[in-house]
Amino acid sequence: MVYMVTILIVACAVTWIYLRWVTVRNYWTERRVPHLPPNPILGSLTFLQQQNAGVWMRHMYETFKTPYIGIWLFWRPALIINTPELARQVLVKDSSNFRDRFVSGGDADPIGKLNLFTVKDPEWSNIRRRLTATFTASKLRIMQDFIRAKSKELAQRLEGERDTRIHLKKLYSDYTTDVIGTSAFGVACDATLTGKSHLRSVTEEFMEFSLLRGIGWSSMFFFPELVDVFRFKLFPKTSTDYFKRVFKAAVAQREANHSERGEPKDLLDALLKIKKESEERKEGYSEDFIVAQAAVFLSGGYDTSGSLLAFLTYELAYNPEVQEQLYEYLLEAKKQNGSDDFTSEQLADMTYLNAVIKEGLRKYSPMSWLDRVAAEDYRIDDNLTIKAGTPVYVNGIGMHYDPDYFPDPDKFDPNRFLPENEKNIKPYTYMPFGEGPRVCIGLRFGMMTVRYAMVSVFLNYKVVPFPGMPTPVDMTIDKRGIFYSPGEAICVEFVPRA
Ligand code: HEM
Repeated sequence: MVYMVTILIVACAVTWIYLRWVTVRNYWTERRVPHLPPNPILGSLTFLQQQNAGVWMRHMYETFKTPYIGIWLFWRPALIINTPELARQVLVKDSSNFRDRFVSGGDADPIGKLNLFTVKDPEWSNIRRRLTATFTASKLRIMQDFIRAKSKELAQRLEGERDTRIHLKKLYSDYTTDVIGTSAFGVACDATLTGKSHLRSVTEEFMEFSLLRGIGWSSMFFFPELVDVFRFKLFPKTSTDYFKRVFKAAVAQREANHSERGEPKDLLDALLKIKKESEERKEGYSEDFIVAQAAVFLSGGYDTSGSLLAFLTYELAYNPEVQEQLYEYLLEAKKQNGSDDFTSEQLADMTYLNAVIKEGLRKYSPMSWLDRVAAEDYRIDDNLTIKAGTPVYVNGIGMHYDPDYFPDPDKFDPNRFLPENEKNIKPYTYMPFGEGPRVCIGLRFGMMTVRYAMVSVFLNYKVVPFPGMPTPVDMTIDKRGIFYSPGEAICVEFVPRA
């Protein structure tokens, strides 16, 4: 009897799973949305750990060339969006229905859950409004001297390591960790000169790969329900403990020194101000909430700018005519200015420098697709309405490589971004910092960090390829990564300018 009941239960369960699977499998067919057949377990996510998510997005764009593509995150239907018109709709026009990202941290991980990148509305609107004030041009100007000094240390480091093959991503991550770490945590770091610091160990650990962390990250982005079940964390525990310790020490130091308080001078000051106000208003922002913001500035800021600088340096080694033009341009600017101590405003006005950086951001957008989730049912067009809760991915990198928008897309051609040509770029086909209310909050800060580094390196060094290294088109992009980052140690020879 027990035997019969067991068989019956198993048969019912198998039938239920099968019928459920058939419904899942037919989901996009029934809605006449182009798609590839899903894998019975992973759905469309068979690329995970085999191919970079951004490279996969490019592949999907090139394969379909349709306004949207249906995919499955395991068994959950999601939509990739491929046109500037739909991108505008989701990111800007109807952004009130797409306030949140799908990515999420777990309840057991307040630092992973409450930071500006993952936090959900209404907390997001509240914290974003307050933090935005920290990234205005006038606030950033206060940080420029420090960033300029760090960028000069980059050139110094290269001088000291003339005979070493320097791993570009490591070099620039040393610099960007120093820059963000000091601004977000208020700690002195000297990784730019030495390649080492406490904070640099944290950012190194943060990017260290293990299968478990790979699964944890994939869950946060594509199956958040699993995050709590397995208690995955955005940052390793040692990093979180370190963040908390450093943050506490910095708070104590600044609180002891009341005379220095006033308008926030850096990100740490701004965070402390929010904490104080929240205590006064009894909003109950925990210390974790505040540390979470500092931690995401560090993680979001150092890796994006570090990867971009590595890619830019590599491309310039393989495009000597662009490199020479940049050098002449910077040399002339230095002559006009009387020194290479440029202000951040001067750098922001350097058209050719900015065109080179923008072209780097086109080819190598560190966050190459934009993630949102529909709060309510949403009409995409006359043929398709998606259900509330459907994740939507705007395929930024797909458009960046579309020859209709950027002819000869593999070519590194900064001229596309000279003012006379840039004005012809179709809106919403170029979005390296995202768009709409959830656009990157660190845009200005990131650009300033990258500009200072480029000036310091390219005024002082010529870069040339090492024989046997892959060309930019052949180099691999990190297969295990969610972000667009070099998949191998890319190096160039730094030859001092006379
Ligand atoms: C080259 C440098 C950088 C690039 C290319 C970049 C790119 C991006 C992109 C594409 C997004 C998503 C935007 C969207 O969904 O519409 C984003 C969000 C974000 N970025 Fe950046 N970023 C850079 C530097 C930075 C820096 C330096 C910081 C911090 C100091 C930072 C902090 C953040 C944060 C906190 C968010 C989430 C904003 C929100 O949801 O309100 N980023 N970034």
